[in-house]
Amino acid sequence: MTETVIPVSPDVAKSASVTAESYEAMYAASVKDPAAFWDDHGRRIDWIRPYSTVKAVNYDYPDVSIRWFDDGTLNVAANCIDRHVATRGDQTAIIFEPDDPSEAAQHITYSQLKDEVSRFANVLKGLGVGKGDRVVIYLPMIPVAAYAMLACARIGAIHSVVFAGFSPDALADRVNDSEARLVITADHAPRGGRATALKSNADKALRRCKDSVKLLVCTRTGGQIDWVEGRDFRYEDLAETASADCPPEEMDAEDPLFILYTSGSTGKPKGVVHTSGGYLVYAAMTHEHVFDYKDGEVYWCTADVGWVTGHSYILYGPLANGATTLMFEGVPTFPDASRFWQVVDKHKVSIFYTAPTALRALMGKGDEWVTKCDLSSLRILGSVGEPINPEAWSWYHRVIGKGKCPIVDTWWQTETGGILISPLPGATPLKPGSATRPFFGVEPVVLDDQGNELSGAVSGVLAIKDSWPGQMRTIWGDHARFISTYFEMFKGYYFAGDGCRRDEDGYYWITGRVDDVINVSGHRMGTAEVESALVAHEKVAEAAVVGYPHDIKGQGIYCYVTLMEGVEPSDALKTELANWVRTEIGPIAKPDVIQWAPGLPKTRSGKIMRRILRKIAENDTGNLGDTSTLAEPAVVDDLVANSVHKQ
Ligand code: PRX
Repeated sequence: MTETVIPVSPDVAKSASVTAESYEAMYAASVKDPAAFWDDHGRRIDWIRPYSTVKAVNYDYPDVSIRWFDDGTLNVAANCIDRHVATRGDQTAIIFEPDDPSEAAQHITYSQLKDEVSRFANVLKGLGVGKGDRVVIYLPMIPVAAYAMLACARIGAIHSVVFAGFSPDALADRVNDSEARLVITADHAPRGGRATALKSNADKALRRCKDSVKLLVCTRTGGQIDWVEGRDFRYEDLAETASADCPPEEMDAEDPLFILYTSGSTGKPKGVVHTSGGYLVYAAMTHEHVFDYKDGEVYWCTADVGWVTGHSYILYGPLANGATTLMFEGVPTFPDASRFWQVVDKHKVSIFYTAPTALRALMGKGDEWVTKCDLSSLRILGSVGEPINPEAWSWYHRVIGKGKCPIVDTWWQTETGGILISPLPGATPLKPGSATRPFFGVEPVVLDDQGNELSGAVSGVLAIKDSWPGQMRTIWGDHARFISTYFEMFKGYYFAGDGCRRDEDGYYWITGRVDDVINVSGHRMGTAEVESALVAHEKVAEAAVVGYPHDIKGQGIYCYVTLMEGVEPSDALKTELANWVRTEIGPIAKPDVIQWAPGLPKTRSGKIMRRILRKIAENDTGNLGDTSTLAEPAVVDDLVANSVHKQ
């Protein structure tokens, strides 16, 4: 089969920040002498005290330590706001497009952003929040979410944004783990024509938290909410008397900027810690070059600020570059399947960055939703969060980009802070489905199971040699887990948890996770989390959860459930369990398939053989591999006979 290669468009290359030639030269320089390379590029942001050391990294297990621009000081919010005010104070920093298209969009200029963020920062100070304190943000996709995050950065507080789709329990776990002193929420979160009762969720969560945790409530809908006197504070009341002047706090480069919880293959979610200097340099640098951002363009990333994509590529990267960034509160299909494209036309979006799951869902609705829109403002398209299948890629390229917009398929992770592997629009010929080549300073390697580096065209485990400035520094409160998760299995490398293939052109093709993490609609989920939610139900004795291919979501959630003695299986119970998980974790974790499992395939030492469960869920039962080590091989026959594919 001949592989499709889409050459770089001369039109794009003409004005691009990086071309094929400059990419090769810059990349070579970046890996030959990373300290010299980042010494130059670290200056793209403003430092209060310039750094004299650039890179202080030790990848030797178990003494891993990562520091960048160590002795420099800066303020991230000042870099994202104040330094632009003199030159572009009247330029729109944030365009807000509400869920309901009949509600007016808002344009917030850099000057207004400075006032809003400073006022918010003073409200936080008034509530006793100071440098190093943790603040949990549980908000809809509204400008206030950006104000809150930047206000934390301004006073040196560490924010931890929790996606508004997470349950009260998930919120409580994150408040407790980070020992936050304040939670910021809103009354309700409109989305897709419905509204989530955020304040009420926060009320439930705080019942499981220390009494000292305060709740700051912002008004979005003005709908009815309960109120706990002494604990709850209304943002608008406090803002009325707060000054719009708040000098930014001087922070060390390695002071934490935020914690963001993400799922791992075992146990509870990990609090990924990103620090200030290196993260901002890396987010800004990747935003400029991967999206070839040009002054004055409108840039739209459809992610939610509850995920790392929202942190790096709605907020920090674009604002550090003085860009106009669009925040969209809604969903792609409300009020109908042309919403994304109407928003593109309405705000003349040049750069559009979304997830394959949204593209697949929209592709299924038919082209007429797209063709009735103009879309001529689009110049660059981006994809993130999961492998993009060739059909979705082609549709994106042909129907959305009219064959003229390069697609940047960006591979990265919560842990990496920014994009590590991606085409650059003016430099990289595209191959549909490949994230292509590494960004500056990133050295991917393909390892075999023993940790040997493989060369040439080959498949294996993806790892990264050496550090880059945007890399996570630790897991909040558990540095040992940081080292064991990412640096123990393959010593001397950062282990990403993904498998990949490298082709003869040195292009990387990400093949998905090699651990027990699944990717549902671009959202990362630990199968262990869903399992522990299931076994917390009184009728469930045991559960094993795996991913399986799903047309829209990429992967669906397939649960094998063993019931307690005497409990009768029924369809009603399946619905009850699916809703139970939804309530325990959040709607994104709702199981797609529940199969009753009288027994689970286990080794004689009691370990569940997930490999077999995955094959059954994938309907690949002709190839179950070696089952001779199972304690009871017969359970496999039962599971195969009763799998969802046999019904
Ligand atoms: O498996 C990879 C997949 O998403 C995982 C990271 O998830 P998360 O930390 O939630 O961050 C998502 C947004 C950056 C990775 O380990 N992934 C992300 N981008 C891609 C991808 N898989 C294939 N292609 C991508 N472009």
